[in-house]
Amino acid sequence: MQRRHLLKLAAASAALTSLPHAIWARQAWSTDPFSLGIASGSPTSNSVVLWTRLGLAGIEAAGLNSSAVPVTWQIAHDRNFGRIVKQGDVRASPTLAHSVHAEVEGLESDREYFYRFMCGEAVSATGRTRTFPKANAVAKKLRIAYASCQQWGNGYYSAYRHMLAEQVDLVMFLGDYMYEYPASKPFDIRPTTGGWITTLDGYRSRYALHKSDKDLQAMHAACPWIVTWDDHEVQNDYAATHPGNSGKPVDDFMARRRAAYQAFYEHMPVRREQFASLLNGLSNDARVFGNVAYGQLANLYTLDNRQHRDLQACTRNGRPGGSRVDPSTCAIWNDPQRTLLGPKQEAWLNAEFASARTTWNVIGLQSVFGPRNFNTQGGQSYSNDGWDGYPAARQRLIDSMRNTRLTNPVMLGGDVHQNWVGNILADYNNPASQKVGVEFCGTSITSLTTLTNIEQAKIIERHPHFIFGDCASRGFGVVEITPTHLTTTLKAVRDATDPLSDAFTLARFHVQAGQNDVKKL
Ligand SMILES: [Fe+2]
Repeated sequence: MQRRHLLKLAAASAALTSLPHAIWARQAWSTDPFSLGIASGSPTSNSVVLWTRLGLAGIEAAGLNSSAVPVTWQIAHDRNFGRIVKQGDVRASPTLAHSVHAEVEGLESDREYFYRFMCGEAVSATGRTRTFPKANAVAKKLRIAYASCQQWGNGYYSAYRHMLAEQVDLVMFLGDYMYEYPASKPFDIRPTTGGWITTLDGYRSRYALHKSDKDLQAMHAACPWIVTWDDHEVQNDYAATHPGNSGKPVDDFMARRRAAYQAFYEHMPVRREQFASLLNGLSNDARVFGNVAYGQLANLYTLDNRQHRDLQACTRNGRPGGSRVDPSTCAIWNDPQRTLLGPKQEAWLNAEFASARTTWNVIGLQSVFGPRNFNTQGGQSYSNDGWDGYPAARQRLIDSMRNTRLTNPVMLGGDVHQNWVGNILADYNNPASQKVGVEFCGTSITSLTTLTNIEQAKIIERHPHFIFGDCASRGFGVVEITPTHLTTTLKAVRDATDPLSDAFTLARFHVQAGQNDVKKL
């Protein structure tokens, strides 16, 4: 922990920000401006984004609500900042909720760094980050934690304390970082403030609530994160420009979506370029999909299955959002034109697959990939909100992996709050068809599910492309990748409603490079 000077601020005004740096540097704070923690993310072989947001309580106490506030960042080889590599000053602007994104370039590849922020007399905690090996470099090992779905009220973030102990190189966060819901009794065990979230201020305060958690802050400070989103960062089950189904409808859904997307930028270690046209008012869209190579070992892709999708097909009773559907009653279910990723993202992904030369191809997405018929009595009932509701798009993605001879595809998913582990098949209608990859859909950090292990076991029995499932546990997964094999460990917290919960290993899996076949250990 760094020194913090929490002295009463003598005088604070907009004029402060125009004072010379030496004078500003002496300003003290009555409330820690780094109360929301720090983070790093979007790593490449020579660059990383350093993030913080000055907390509203500190800003308000200092009377700086409408002022741009100068913040210094430093990145060093050592934890004590004896060997500073680079530093710079940025202005945390009220128009971006006093968030800071320092996109540090020119770093050495495959190297650990330490970073911190300074604002007046306040110094942030110290974070650890790393760059990736260059694309042509030999990399021997990569450890990734994957996680999703952390509804604040449903539990404590003990999972992150146990993730910290895993000493991973990277976190891939796969969506539902926060939820737009109000407190939901009787399921909530800690209070969710702010009611239904629909405005920019609302999204900001909800992110701030989540980011106040010390276990989450510690995990952000421990390694870089690659992040994507799902629906709850805007609204449950929304589909591109179509609203979802939670809470009262708003008059202007696209204004709500723009606000939500901006708040996502303000709270994540992502690059300005991805959100520039949105933040400049030139577009309603942001680019969240992308990929990065970790040496010759792995290509890491993150997909966006919310922003560019077609509307869910045949949702019951004409409601917005998703529902379970019997495909035989839905004329457009198999329409080849329907898309989950959108034409642009599909074309980009196909081109990236075609040029990929890494041993492994790790694809972070938002949901289960393989089919799941929830009707175990002989009928059909599929969720129309995930890949099941877009079967032609799913087949195009499978065909793309096959046609480009993509080596060792590994899908990491979230969204459903349940662990599902299985093989990706060339044709899911033919259980004997070629295995073309593997998938690990993770459980949630805290969010609940109503599916039981008994019900899930019945589904898996009828779908041999899955080899394992678990609905009872909250937690995360750790994927360890080497040039010859991959091992995934599912970690579960004993009780997500206990802030001091211990954790255990739920199951472990092995994939041999070149086999596309996941085995339970
Ligand atoms: Fe979720």
